[in-house]
Amino acid sequence: MTSTIEPQGAATPAPRGTLRRPADLARNIDVSGLVDTEGGLLDRVIFTDQQLYRQELRRVFAPSWLFLAHTDQFHKPGDFFTTYMGEDPVIVTLDRDRRIRAYLNSCRHRGARVCRAESGTTRNFTCTYHGWSFNLDGSLASVPNKDGYTEDFSADQWGLVEVPHVESYHGLIFGTWNPQPVPLRESLGDMAWYMDAMLDHDEQGTVVVGGVHKWVLEGNWKLAAEQFATDWYHVNMSHASALMVLAPSGKKPKDEVVHRTGRQYSDGNGNGAGFPVHPKNRFDARTVHEWMDYDALRARLGEARVEGPLTNGHATVFPNFSYLPVNGSIRVWHPKGPDRMEVWAWTIVDKSMPPEVREAQRLYNLRTFGPSGIFEQDDGENWSEVQAISHGFITNGVALNYQMGLGSEREDGRYPGTTSELYSDAAGRAFYGRWRELMNTPAWHEPAMRSTNE
Ligand code: FES
Ligand SMILES: [Fe+2]
Repeated sequence: MTSTIEPQGAATPAPRGTLRRPADLARNIDVSGLVDTEGGLLDRVIFTDQQLYRQELRRVFAPSWLFLAHTDQFHKPGDFFTTYMGEDPVIVTLDRDRRIRAYLNSCRHRGARVCRAESGTTRNFTCTYHGWSFNLDGSLASVPNKDGYTEDFSADQWGLVEVPHVESYHGLIFGTWNPQPVPLRESLGDMAWYMDAMLDHDEQGTVVVGGVHKWVLEGNWKLAAEQFATDWYHVNMSHASALMVLAPSGKKPKDEVVHRTGRQYSDGNGNGAGFPVHPKNRFDARTVHEWMDYDALRARLGEARVEGPLTNGHATVFPNFSYLPVNGSIRVWHPKGPDRMEVWAWTIVDKSMPPEVREAQRLYNLRTFGPSGIFEQDDGENWSEVQAISHGFITNGVALNYQMGLGSEREDGRYPGTTSELYSDAAGRAFYGRWRELMNTPAWHEPAMRSTNE
């Protein structure tokens, strides 16, 4: 074996203890020809190919800001939540200095998870394989039978691998493995204005109600992420029956819904959001709607936000965090191979909501976008349908159409950044444009970049 192990000190920002790998373990494919943002065409191989999927983990997930958890999940030191960044398991916890930190959930000894619970409170993380134990600051606290090691064994070189940057925005915690990232707020850009329509109704912010719902879908993670970025178009057809059920009694909402107008935001970082403006049929929970103080919201957020993204809509923060403002649904599409994703979904509400309003919002979100929600079922069915046939040899080579609204992107003067029509693929094209850019760019961990980063 020619590889050498290089354990590094606790202050090292980049993941430590990595091997010097042969370069061809991480061969990269040029994806330029697979995404045509100008022509609005997409090659289906990006949803099915295992090698491209591995490249996504390296070049899309490893360098990006990824959603970890909500700040309301951490109140006292030792509170923790376990999740994933790409396919990497991580622990998010509040340390003794009340700092939110995140670690790779993999023991430095033989690699078992050091925390197998989904959430809870602990004093330390003890691996159940041989018993190595780690403090809340990630350092190695104790090693059973330590006298079996030589005197050279240094515990401070074998702490948990820490996620180098963890930042939050209005209650949403994101982390990145990139040792020198663009700050989170900067990477959100104008998208933050749209996010505030859900997160910043008043100065108390949001809290989580209920637990985290988790379910598996047989579809590529990008199908869900892109739809939440760009696809109001499917609503009329896919959700026709759900819209009927939710319509005010005696009215059929379809015509009004079909002819809605609105805007769709997109940006160069791959973020996207769409929303109807002044919709006649409301599809939010009545109890929540009646509780909302729209005058106060207008004063705080402005008319443009209240008439649009606060009232309805969908959004994705690139790559795999999405939300639905009126449902209070936030979710991550965890990649589990090219053909599978795991959906993790939270319900968030305004902290200022009284209990009965919180409960109304929680139930409304479950009815519509819980694992068996009437809209969620339609969406999952579509993604699984698309995925199920896309491995066919001929099928896989037939391009997909993302041409709706080609050339309609502009600054409209009312909504920040670049917007298009409500019915448009603009944010989808931007999403895949960003994906293409990252897939063709060496990430911080690749040898060519190391010489400039070190
Ligand atoms: S794998 Fe964790 S102590 Fe051995
Ligand atoms: Fe949908």
